[in-house]
Amino acid sequence: MTPVFRPFRHDDTEAVVALWDACGLLRPWNDPRRDIARKVAEQPELFLVAEQPDGEDGSAVVGVGMAGYDGHRGWVNYLAVRPDLQGSGLGRAFMAEFERLLTERGCPKVNVQVREGNEQVLGFYASLGYAPDRAVSLGKRLIADD
Ligand SMILES: CC(C)(COP(=O)(O)OP(=O)(O)OC[C@H]1O[C@@H](n2cnc3c(N)ncnc32)[C@H](O)[C@@H]1OP(=O)(O)O)[C@@H](O)C(=O)NCCC(=O)NCCS
Repeated sequence: MTPVFRPFRHDDTEAVVALWDACGLLRPWNDPRRDIARKVAEQPELFLVAEQPDGEDGSAVVGVGMAGYDGHRGWVNYLAVRPDLQGSGLGRAFMAEFERLLTERGCPKVNVQVREGNEQVLGFYASLGYAPDRAVSLGKRLIADD
């Protein structure tokens, strides 16, 4: 079955957090439920899940990702595909959908940040045409989650 993309709904919360956990994206300094609440408050239409019919139980969330457009660049964060479905094209389809939505809004360029130690994902992005920028990513925490 082909997964269907749709905006996140509140009752997806636990499935999404479990998916990020299974994909190794959770960090102690980021409270995923607060991250979800923040995203729901800003461009929630760019917070997507991929849903797949799951037998008699209904549907299962098999992928998730957050995109945003700040008026200059588009961003994609927290992209995850259920481990048993990785390598089947869902990540590519996800990024194509985000690129479509961002282009529709007039976003000229999309950036992604890949954590050190997650170099294998660089191969995924490279196959989609993403190249390293000549820039160093800097960050400053404004609100502590812990
Ligand atoms: C990264 C991730 C979302 C990719 O989704 P996916 O469904 O596995 O990727 P796809 O099957 O769509 O792969 C798309 C392309 O990338 C390539 N690719 C995927 N992983 C790769 C890797 N580790 N190295 C090289 N190429 C890779 C695939 O071969 C495929 O190329 P093709 O279409 O030319 O055959 C998924 O692996 C994942 O959830 N990883 C764990 C969470 C994570 O690290 N997220 C990224 C945060 S920055």
